[in-house]
Amino acid sequence: MRIRRGALFLSLLYSFCTLAKNTPSATASIGLNLSPVMKQKTAFFCQNCGHESPKWAGKCPNCGQWNTFVEEKILPTQPKTEAAAVWLDSEQLKENSRAQSISQIQATEDIRLQLPDEELNRTLGGGLVLGSVTLVAGDPGIGKSTLFLQTALHARHLKVLYVSGEESAHQIKMRAERLGVAAPHVYLLTATNLQTIFAELKKVQPNWVIIDSVQTLESPLLDSPAGSVGQVRAVAAALNKYAKQTSVPVTIIGHITKDGVIAGPKVLEHMVDTVLQFEGDRHYAYRMLRTLKNRFGSTAELGIYEMTHKGLRGVTNPSEILLSDNEEELSGIARAVTIEGMRPLMIETQALVAQAVYGTPQRTTNGFDLRRLQLLLAVLEKRGGFHFGMKDVFLNIAGGLRLEDPALDLAVVCAMLSSYEDIGISSKTVFIGEVGLSGEIRAVSRIEQRILEAQKMGVEKVFVPKANEKSLSISNIDLELIPVAKVADVYQMLF
Ligand code: TYD
Ligand code: MG
Repeated sequence: MRIRRGALFLSLLYSFCTLAKNTPSATASIGLNLSPVMKQKTAFFCQNCGHESPKWAGKCPNCGQWNTFVEEKILPTQPKTEAAAVWLDSEQLKENSRAQSISQIQATEDIRLQLPDEELNRTLGGGLVLGSVTLVAGDPGIGKSTLFLQTALHARHLKVLYVSGEESAHQIKMRAERLGVAAPHVYLLTATNLQTIFAELKKVQPNWVIIDSVQTLESPLLDSPAGSVGQVRAVAAALNKYAKQTSVPVTIIGHITKDGVIAGPKVLEHMVDTVLQFEGDRHYAYRMLRTLKNRFGSTAELGIYEMTHKGLRGVTNPSEILLSDNEEELSGIARAVTIEGMRPLMIETQALVAQAVYGTPQRTTNGFDLRRLQLLLAVLEKRGGFHFGMKDVFLNIAGGLRLEDPALDLAVVCAMLSSYEDIGISSKTVFIGEVGLSGEIRAVSRIEQRILEAQKMGVEKVFVPKANEKSLSISNIDLELIPVAKVADVYQMLF
């Protein structure tokens, strides 16, 4: 009995030991089978700026947005997604991975594709560079799809593949018909799977690829949903690789959202060659295309469009549309010339100064920085002795533009004074100058260009900063230049 019990104990001990010994190998074998699951790590990504964190946080330490962290799985294979370049054969791949002397590399002459849209060509720095990746960001509904579909439709010398994950082919066709162009050279693909898209790219062999939008595409190699930071990055990386290896330019459209549901295109900015921002007030017809980053040109360019019922139309003389053609002198209106990108624009600032009804007077601006307005009001109050403290002040930049040019200060001040005194200023007068804290008028940049624009628009009198007078070197001007040093001088001349 004793022996038996001992044997039982021993056998129990033995089986326990073997179990213990086997356990790691058992887990290892399970781990082997399920290795993708076992190795899966997760991290939290800010859906606004892409900041990665091992822990969830309420506020992103990078961009300061609240409640934007979402847990996403990171596959160990992530950086190698779509590595098997389906669009190249092995010979070409080998060629690409060899180091060569820079002088041996032949620069192709015709490195830029000319698009049938002059505004877009200029914004890109003279056309679309072969093999470049361009990100076009903008609020939903601003006209990104319209702009690129219409440009593709007019680009008859190119074979364009328009990939849409947002609209059906039928809807895009309807839009194309509305734009009024029949174009057999544009191929539509409504797919969201990256592998499908690359398979089609190989078949179609386009000269230009448009992706609408990056937030709708997904790589099947990742688990996270389309539009998450991981997916957006993987999609952009794969498209970038495609563009660089085949020299086909790729244009990626992306939405900006603040609420953090969809990854902001901010995540992509460093991954692409050019970032264009399409902006404008949806309630106005005018849209601006700005360059935020350009590896192949200046970022000072700007394209201006007007949204019509037949798509977007490039605006060649923007000053004309930004001014009201009122001949009579209305109080509260002063004109200025601002520089947007490389282009001078003549604009109208409108102010309304009224007796405050409530205790705290209101200051409201549209298209101008509110803090700048408050600063200018404080200058007028302290240096000029005007009692704006008792008045409501409303300021508007006509045409729905949003401007930050300090050279507008003088016009803003004059518009407010004009409304305050209820005396109109002639529409043939333009004000150029930055206003300093002691009421002095400071020099502005590119004064010649501004004066010439004013002349082109038929202006008769231009108030310019005295500090700019010395450096002025234009000969053929036939308008009156009035150099001014202080706001008080301008006030005395006008009212
Ligand atoms: P869309 O290009 O769909 O915007 P996005 O791709 O940036 O989200 O443009 C949407 C707006 O453009 C829509 O509100 C209607 C307007 N639109 C016109 O006014 N005229 C037109 O010819 C077209 C095609 C669109
Ligand atoms: Mg769209």
